[in-house]
Amino acid sequence: MTTSPTTPPPQIITGKARLAGVMGWPVEHSRSPALHNYWLRRYGVDGAYVPLPTAPEDFVAAVLGLQAAGFKGVNVTIPHKEAAYKLADVLDASARRAGAVNTLVFREDGKILGLSTDGSGFVASLAASSLPPRPQTRALLLGAGGAARSVAAALQDRGLKVAITNRTHERAVTLAAALPGTDVLAWSEWEQQLGEFALLVNTTSLGMAGGPDPLFCPSLAQAAEDLVVADIVYAPLVTPLLAAATRQGLRTVGGLGMLLHQARFGFKEWFGVDPQVDDATQDHVLNSL
Ligand code: ATR
Repeated sequence: MTTSPTTPPPQIITGKARLAGVMGWPVEHSRSPALHNYWLRRYGVDGAYVPLPTAPEDFVAAVLGLQAAGFKGVNVTIPHKEAAYKLADVLDASARRAGAVNTLVFREDGKILGLSTDGSGFVASLAASSLPPRPQTRALLLGAGGAARSVAAALQDRGLKVAITNRTHERAVTLAAALPGTDVLAWSEWEQQLGEFALLVNTTSLGMAGGPDPLFCPSLAQAAEDLVVADIVYAPLVTPLLAAATRQGLRTVGGLGMLLHQARFGFKEWFGVDPQVDDATQDHVLNSL
């Protein structure tokens, strides 16, 4: 009997299983266990990936305990990304630029390596949509939180000129100071200046179901014809912003791709396989939403 990627074989967990997980507080909402265990089954890897609800005050002890228990590493999500940055013995360039860590790798030499894979995941998601960010073009990011910084750094590293705009202007100024070369636009003015940009990215929670403004839909009237509009929100899959962009004939990229692509880097480090992000992977995660 052949097994299609949508119905992978049962999981193998022997005494030699490779172990990883996701630390967050809370962590129930995380899609990472569904995604990683799907890949483990699909590639026949002897391993498991588990949710690890961890209160902030227990974070360091928990990481060291997991390392002592033989885990290969962990993803870290809210509120642990800065604590993971401080805890890591070695940071890769992406983590230093992002000022945060979402992936820890427990190396054979006992050192803990910290990575930030959100920005690379975002860029990979654009490339997978046949819309790779074009060097020398300008990108405008809405938001100035951790996600904005990761995406801004990854776009700058690929030669784009990045501008950010944020409701709280001082936060945008602080982010721009951490990433030299970043421009800052006023929140009340960016819609008028949109015509100067080739890529617009919403990195805020605006447009998210259950978020601060699920109907968020700014004016795209000034957009150039070839503007690409991306959203990192993936619930709903098509945000009001993306729907408006599509109605206007603009090309769009939704947030699910970033979620899937950022996970590849950790999976490869812990489990030794570079997993594919394809329709079967997407369907599997959507069915778990
Ligand atoms: P993350 O680290 O995941 O990016 P965050 O640090 O909480 O999350 O950032 C959330 C972003 O959404 C911020 O840019 C925030 O703007 P402020 O810095 O002004 O708070 C933005 N955001 C959240 N609610 C918003 C709202 N109602 N209007 C405009 N921006 C909002």
